[in-house]
Amino acid sequence: MIGPHVIEEARAHAVAFFADDATGHDAWHTMRVHNLAVRLAREEGAREDVVALAALLHDVDDAKLSPETTEGLGNAAAFLRRHGVADDEARAVLAAVREVSFSKNGGAAPSSLESACVRDADRLDAIGAIGVARAFAYGGARGRALHDPTSTDATTTIQHFYDKLLLLEGMMATDAGRRAAHRRDAYLRGFLEEFLAEWDGER
Ligand code: ADP
Ligand code: NI
Repeated sequence: MIGPHVIEEARAHAVAFFADDATGHDAWHTMRVHNLAVRLAREEGAREDVVALAALLHDVDDAKLSPETTEGLGNAAAFLRRHGVADDEARAVLAAVREVSFSKNGGAAPSSLESACVRDADRLDAIGAIGVARAFAYGGARGRALHDPTSTDATTTIQHFYDKLLLLEGMMATDAGRRAAHRRDAYLRGFLEEFLAEWDGER
C-alpha cells in the first residue's frame, strides 16, 4: 500500500513541475487525469494507490518538457526513490507511466489494469469539451490556423481531430473508459459538425 502522504507529495510535485507550461501539460491536466483515473480504477476494481500515483507522475518525463529523462523516466523514478516507495509498487507505477504515451504505445495493450486506467484517463482528457479546449489552446500556442478546408496536412487544429481525437474512443482499454469516451466522442462529433456548418455559412 502506497501511503496517502506520498500521493499528496506527488500532487505538490506536479503543481511545482508544471508551473508556467503552455504545451497542454499544465498541472490541471495532471489533476484531471488523476481524478478520472481514480474514478476508472474504482469502477474497474484496479489498485487505486498505484493508479493515483502513476496519474500524478504520468507527464513529468514528457518529451516536450523533459527530453533528457523521457527514455528512463528519470523524474518519476527519482520521486519514487526519494519517497521510499517499495520496489514492486514502484515498478507497477513506472509501467503505467510508460504505457500512457500515445505516440510510444499507441497500439499495444496495457500490461495491467492499473496501466489501462491511467492511459484511458489521459486519452479521455484529450476528448469531450476539455479536449476541444485543449486542442485549440495547443494550436493557438503554436500560431496554427483553426481550419483550412483546402488542406489535409497536420498544421490546423481541425485536422488534429481527424488525425487523433476521433480515434481515441476506439482505443480505450477499459469498459469504464469506453463508457466515458462514448459521451465525450459524441460531444466532439457534435462540435465538429456545428463548426463545419458555421464555417460554410449554413448555420
Ligand atoms: P499526450 O499527452 O497524449 O502525449 P500530446 O502531448 O500530444 O498528448 O497533446 C497534449 C494536448 O494537446 C492534447 O489535448 C492534444 O489533443 C493536444 N494536441 C497535440 N497535438 C496537437 C495538434 N497538432 N493540434 C491541436 N492539438 C494538439
Ligand atoms: Ni497527459
